[in-house]
Order: sequence, then C-alpha cells, then structure tokens
Amino acid sequence: MPNKNDFKPEILDKLDLLQKKYSDMGQDLSSYLDGLLYADFLTYWDYINLDTLLSLQQPITPYPDEKVFIIYHQITELYFKLAIHEFEQIGEAVKEESLTSKFLLERVKRINRYFEALTSSFDIMVDGMDQGEFLKFRMSLLPASGFQSAQYRKIEIYSTSLDRIAHKNHREKFSGYALEEIPLIFDHLYWREGASELKSGAKTLTLKQFEKKYDAELKALAVKTFKSNVRTASGSLVFSKEEAAIKEELRQAMRWLDTNVNVNWTLAHYKSAVRYLQRDPEDIAATGGTNWQKYLPPRFQKRIFFPELWSEQEIEDWGKGWVSREVFGAK
Ligand code: HEM
Repeated sequence: MPNKNDFKPEILDKLDLLQKKYSDMGQDLSSYLDGLLYADFLTYWDYINLDTLLSLQQPITPYPDEKVFIIYHQITELYFKLAIHEFEQIGEAVKEESLTSKFLLERVKRINRYFEALTSSFDIMVDGMDQGEFLKFRMSLLPASGFQSAQYRKIEIYSTSLDRIAHKNHREKFSGYALEEIPLIFDHLYWREGASELKSGAKTLTLKQFEKKYDAELKALAVKTFKSNVRTASGSLVFSKEEAAIKEELRQAMRWLDTNVNVNWTLAHYKSAVRYLQRDPEDIAATGGTNWQKYLPPRFQKRIFFPELWSEQEIEDWGKGWVSREVFGAK
C-alpha cells in the first residue's frame, strides 16, 4: 500500500486545493473521491452523444438522395446553432453592460466563419443530388420547407433591428420603432408577406404551421434583443481615438456578416432552387408555396441588416453581381 510519502508533492498540493474547494461548499471531499473511483472513463462517443446524433437521419422515402438532403439540413441547423450561441453571448454582455468592441468583433468574426463554411459547402445540395430523385422525394415532404427554420429567423432577429426584416415596403415607417410596436411589425415581416397569396393575403399552410409553433417565441426574442441585436448594440459602443482601428475592423466584419447572411448564403441557396425547380416552360412550385423566383433572390428583397454601412450604390446593386456570375454564368 502506498503511504503519504509516496505521493508526489504536486498531487498533495492538488489534494489540499480540492479539500479547500469542497469544504468551502460544505461538501465532503472523501465522498467525491469515491465518486471518482467508481466512475467510468469517458468515451468519445458518449461525450458527443454520437449514437443519438447518428440516429437522427430518418428518410421517409426509399430514395437514397433524401438522406443527403436531410443530413445537409441538419449540418446547416448545427451551424445556425453555433451562430446563435455567439449572438446569445453578445446579448448577455449587453445585459451585464460589459460589451466591448473587441468582444463584439470576435463574435461577429466567428459567425462569419460559420456562414462561410455553409456557403462554401452548399454545392453538396446544388450538385450533390439527382434531380429526378429530388423531385420525387420532395413530394412526400409537403408542405414542409426550409422556410420553417426558426433558427434562421432567430439569426435575423439577433442581427438587426426588427424594422430591417420587415417587408421592404414597410421598413421606413417602422424605423426607430418602440418596444410596443413589435407585434405590429411582426405582421409585416418579409417572410410573412412572402408566404401569403398576393390577391387574397391568405397565408400558406407552411406559414400557418410555422406561426403556430414559433410566433410567440420569436416575438419574445424580438423583445429580448430590442437593445442587444448586433445593429443596436454596435451603435451604442463608444470608440476613443485610439480605437479607430478596431472600429474599422468591426465595420468590415459587420459588412461581411450582412454579405454572408443576406447575399452569399441566400444566393448559394437560391442556386439550389434554380438547379432543381427551374424548368421550361413553367417552373416547379416550391414545397412551401412561395413565389420562389421573386421571393428568394436578394436583389428583390434587399434584406440588409446594417444599411448605414453601405453606400447608396452598394444598396442599389445588392446581390446583383453574384446572381449574374454564379447563377447565370455571366463574366
Ligand atoms: C435542393 C435544396 C433546396 C431547395 C430546392 C430549396 C428550396 C427552397 C424554396 C423554393 C424556398 C422558398 C420557400 C418555399 O416556398 O418553400 C426555400 C426557403 C428556405 N430554405 Fe430552402 N431549399 C433547399 C435547401 C435548403 C437547405 C439545405 C436549407 C438549410 C436549412 C434551406 C433553408 C431555407 C430557408 C431558411 C428558407 C427561407 C428563406 C427566406 O425566407 O428567405 N433550404 N427553400
């Protein structure tokens, strides 16, 4: 049996520290050491919940490419979750009045990285499925659509003031809105108007289902982020003369965030709709029932989180270059 002298001094020091930690909390160190003794060694698969993760890919048709479709959506939702994780930390810092430009910059840069990964991998969708298979299995998914991704909507709400994601005909009038106006603005969000019939204003089933599940949660988030969305939070930062460089870096990172979410990802995604749904003489209807040719391209919606960071010309040209180059092959 080892006696006390057999233990290295570092181990004894650690035992002292542990003793202090547990007694400070009124806990008995010896019982916790028992726990350590009986506990199993951690495995990789348990730590990351691998079995559960890999059990979540459940096609509902026999077409093999449906699995590609499901997994890529799940990958995207995980990246969205990472982005939201960063946004939440910005919100916490605002709440605690501890937000610094450096912290905000770092979070925005991280979110940019997540979106870059998504945009550059979108060809997995665009080129990675057989169109014939896609057009068949999608019919079993009706009326579900990526349109119903609540995390995507949350990213928009965390990024900017709510007026910026109202339909473009309503943006001006809601600029500088008060907290009490949030429910009113919600009736005019771009995606709500995009999934309603033009003539009757009737909502698509896809939208109705989405609202039933997420409306209250998204409204609560809009209230919570009234002051802590990236646009408002960055506007409240004060920069000293010495901080000119970080101010500029933040400006560029926010322009990049706007480009990543509202142009690059949006267009990579639009390219998949063109690839699978564009057909002469008539395009194929979307599962969510929007007029996707008019709804998806950023040059029509001009969703811009931070308009103050763009020139009039840049706003005028929003999303144009990429479409002609990537979708229609112009030089
Ligand atoms: C072959 C692949 C895809 C096609 C053909 C496609 C098609 C469409 C279409 C037509 C819409 C318009 C709404 C509707 O009426 O259904 C839409 C919306 C949307 N999809 Fe996809 N999609 C694809 C992949 C994805 C993936 C992988 C994601 C990742 C989560 C996604 C997320 C979204 C989101 C967030 C919207 C709402 C966009 C907005 O409101 O501006 N889609 N999709």
